[in-house]
Amino acid sequence: MENPFAEGENRILRPPSTAIVIFGATGDLARRKLLPALYHLYRDGFLPQKFVIIGAARRPIDDSQFVDFVAEGAREFANIDVSSSQWKEFAARLHFESVDGTDQDGFARLRKRLETFNARDNEQYQLLYYLATSPKFFADIAAHLDEANLIYRSSDELNRSVIVVEKPFGDDYESARELNRRLLEHFEERQIFRIDHYLGKETVQNILVFRFANGIFEPLWTREYVDHIQISVSEDIGVGSRAAYFDSSGILKDIIQNHLLQMLSLLCIEPPISLSDPDSIRDEKVKVLRSIRPFSSESVMSDCVRAQYDSGFIKGKSVVGYHEESGVREGSRTETYAALRLEIDNWRWSGVPIYVRAGKRLPKRITELSISFKRAPQSLFRGRQIVELDQNMLAIQVQPREGITLRMNSKPPGPRMRVGSVEMDFSYKGSFGMRSADAYERLLLDAMKGDPTLFTRKDEIEEAWKLLKPVYEGWQTSDYPVYQYAAGTWGPTAADELLERSGHRWRVL
Ligand code: BG6
Repeated sequence: MENPFAEGENRILRPPSTAIVIFGATGDLARRKLLPALYHLYRDGFLPQKFVIIGAARRPIDDSQFVDFVAEGAREFANIDVSSSQWKEFAARLHFESVDGTDQDGFARLRKRLETFNARDNEQYQLLYYLATSPKFFADIAAHLDEANLIYRSSDELNRSVIVVEKPFGDDYESARELNRRLLEHFEERQIFRIDHYLGKETVQNILVFRFANGIFEPLWTREYVDHIQISVSEDIGVGSRAAYFDSSGILKDIIQNHLLQMLSLLCIEPPISLSDPDSIRDEKVKVLRSIRPFSSESVMSDCVRAQYDSGFIKGKSVVGYHEESGVREGSRTETYAALRLEIDNWRWSGVPIYVRAGKRLPKRITELSISFKRAPQSLFRGRQIVELDQNMLAIQVQPREGITLRMNSKPPGPRMRVGSVEMDFSYKGSFGMRSADAYERLLLDAMKGDPTLFTRKDEIEEAWKLLKPVYEGWQTSDYPVYQYAAGTWGPTAADELLERSGHRWRVL
């Protein structure tokens, strides 16, 4: 049946006919995020008229068992009405093929299945492979796809194959380079879409529009006017069922290496030549990463803080400490919190401290980037009962409340000349009155269209790992302390001291 939402302007935004193959289709990510995102794209008329989705995983189930499994997840995690006619139309496009990532036979069957769809629909589907499996299978799957002749290399969109690779992309600098090398044996760089779902968040994309579509901010975006920058990725959840994975990773690799450095590079890039040329943005991002001052063993000690959560309270409920979580190794020193002081050594930013922090079991879920501007001279206001003028501050809230706040000083009403701090506030909800699509919706659509702008290029991934290498290697030794913080607090005092040294404080979020 024709999708009722498919008329009007959405039609021109649609990608070509696509067969989407999700490896790891019975896993958590596929069920909670990818399949609901694909349904939402279908419902809103963004998918092509002709598409098929093939779940691929080891489990020996058939199409209808897969459909039931997906429906259960869609209802539970995305609140989707799976009795609606739209869901039924969508579900009719779902198929399943039992494929073991290490076994070539499954790929031959997959090929046959894809040929059947091409013949049935009289269509040459472009192929999108989504790797949502354990990362240890990524390179093997690419090799098996190649061996089964399942990679089209034409740049013609109907004959194209792309591969979307989930995180973690490598476990360190060397393994990320090796994974790049192995993927590039089978796919060209333009076919590889390394996903960082933070880049699909509306507010993260808005960093570029906000910076480059407004004449008033760009001139101020320099070391002359900016005092310091803070980026916080705070989560109230613990490691939960992902403890075993997390314990071998830590927050530095889980959040800072990817999501946080991606946001930082967008915030600090030079104006690209064009916002519609993917490489012009990514070239500038990589320059930022390469300009961040490298860590030495001394600066890992002085500028990097790591910590683990102890038991405590989150929203009034008592929660266990990291070491009590099941799956965490005894005596583990893996950090659940990290704070770093960075500096970008280029003409725009040299001398501006950049403080970044990420942590689990902090008081609330919030991601925010803030720019504090240099203080106005105090002398004019001396003797006016003002202890200190507040710094102007621009905060970009990525989540959960999406918006931008500008803090200014102003005169409160009354006969006396006094100064108080006020905030101007823009919220997505208030201004646009519509939901922001889930990050995966935007990214899946871009991958189908072959637009890599919001995906991480080979050199970006490698630069980010290279930057953090001295930190994670240093932290493997016992020379560096692992602080503790009670769950539900804002991390260890050592992280406060990191800022106090330069007369700064973490923003109260
Ligand atoms: C993932 C991390 O990449 O991002 C998780 O592996 C983290 O540990 C998650 O919880 C946070 O994503 P979001 O979109 O909920 O902020």
